[in-house]
Amino acid sequence: MNFKKVHPDFGIEIKDIKINKINHQEITEILNLFEEYSLIVLKNQKITNEEQLDFAKNFGELEVTKPGTIGSNSNLVILTNMDEDGKVVDDSHKQAKNDRANQQWHSDSSFKIHPAHASILNGRTTPKIGGSTQFICMRNIYKRLDQSIQKQLDNLDAIHHFAHSRSKIDSSMVSQIELDKFPPVIHPMVKINPVNNKKAVYFGSHTKSIKNLDGDESSKLLKYLNDFINNEDYIYSHKWDDFDLIIWDNRSMLHRGQPYDVTEPRYLVRATVSDTMSTGTYL
Ligand SMILES: [Fe+2]
Repeated sequence: MNFKKVHPDFGIEIKDIKINKINHQEITEILNLFEEYSLIVLKNQKITNEEQLDFAKNFGELEVTKPGTIGSNSNLVILTNMDEDGKVVDDSHKQAKNDRANQQWHSDSSFKIHPAHASILNGRTTPKIGGSTQFICMRNIYKRLDQSIQKQLDNLDAIHHFAHSRSKIDSSMVSQIELDKFPPVIHPMVKINPVNNKKAVYFGSHTKSIKNLDGDESSKLLKYLNDFINNEDYIYSHKWDDFDLIIWDNRSMLHRGQPYDVTEPRYLVRATVSDTMSTGTYL
């Protein structure tokens, strides 16, 4: 399988694969490359929802889309700035606020008991100005942190809460159903990949605080980590072409959207694989 690196430390672009015509051997290779490189870009994937779902199932059990998100109760998330009539929404619309919430560094579904494993995102209509998706490999971050901080993180857990990430945009955008369904959950701050044992730092916009640290210590450490990751050298910025398909590993990557010309239509479809091997605990 031919591929090229998209960043010196992680991520590849694979050529000559169509996920709707893929064979068993190619799937096995992609699964291996996913564990190794954490991010895979496939160009020109003009696919149906069903083809996207069939491909995603190779990575594991699919998430059921939560209430309050377009695609609720299906296995697809629709990320768009358009309303039901295909009209681009204004700044105050929930879809626009969701976009802004997703412009914070995060790992998908880290607020769930079973967080996300792989996200598989197909850009069906993508803005021409801005709108990149950025990625950071958190294995890389772990490797570059001081040993003393690595050791500290190895023994820490963090509290993730959906309402926390939304409160930074507009707390009224979280419904009572979402509050009831997603109480705070605890996950380790370092994830170890079960295949290759590589460690990755695990936190993001849903991380409210660090358990077992007092408020000040927790905020200080989270600020330190946030400052540390915001280094251009660690970031891969993906400028979308229509029909790109990106697969990333939420156990080892953070991502965020970038602002774009909001008068342009945007429509991306995501299938999300659940990390059923990882179980958080409720507070
Ligand atoms: Fe996301």
